[in-house]
Amino acid sequence: MRLSILTLNPGYFPGALDEGMIRIARQKGLLEVSVVAIRDFTTDRYGTTDDYPYGGGAGMVMKVEPIARAFESARRAAGPGAPHVLVTSPQGRRFTQAWARDLAREPSIAILCGRYRGIDERVIPILGAEEISIGDYVLSGGEPAALVIVDALARLLPGVLGDAESAEADSFSEPLLDAPVYTRPEECEGHRVPEVLLSGNHERIRLWRRREALRRTWNRRPDLLEGRELSDEDKRLLKEIKGEVAR
Ligand code: ADE
Repeated sequence: MRLSILTLNPGYFPGALDEGMIRIARQKGLLEVSVVAIRDFTTDRYGTTDDYPYGGGAGMVMKVEPIARAFESARRAAGPGAPHVLVTSPQGRRFTQAWARDLAREPSIAILCGRYRGIDERVIPILGAEEISIGDYVLSGGEPAALVIVDALARLLPGVLGDAESAEADSFSEPLLDAPVYTRPEECEGHRVPEVLLSGNHERIRLWRRREALRRTWNRRPDLLEGRELSDEDKRLLKEIKGEVAR
């Protein structure tokens, strides 16, 4: 996948793009990232990238022209084929694992990081972009959102994760939260690892993990269980969990 990040704050990305899963994806040649500084595409001597909003009001608005030029440059550098263009914005459609899976199949993506009060709305049709939000809170800029998106995509690219840790086993591959996990030592400041995990009994462990996954989901994200087809086993486990709470 080829990825271009268009930003007013290019200094945000070195470091973050050189660590963890994103670094692995890049090293394996599965992800190619370029960070494009929008300010490099301004034409006045002040490097103006924003201006006052028409109609008045507080805050500044990102101008169309430097963005359009930065995008054109990124597009040419990326070679043939139009990229799928995203603009980070709290007004966007909510980013989900399902959307991440769709995006991970794109050969080329450009992410424009929003700033200030917003971006001139005409950028959306000019770039053929789609607005994307990582959640219902307001960041001061879209750079952390872009990193969230890149990280979520990098680990889904075929060949990035080993078989054992394949993304399919993860939370949100099916809509249940994960059960808790533990590693050595068996006891830590008086907290013991649940006995069942030390039992070596694979069936008991499987059932315990399923019950704890359902318990967490029911306690923390009951919305994920709504309208969901449950297996007979899940129904029984959930009934037990609800019984425990009522007691
Ligand atoms: N920019 C500011 N807040 C944001 C959010 N929640 N998601 C994406 N981009 C943003």
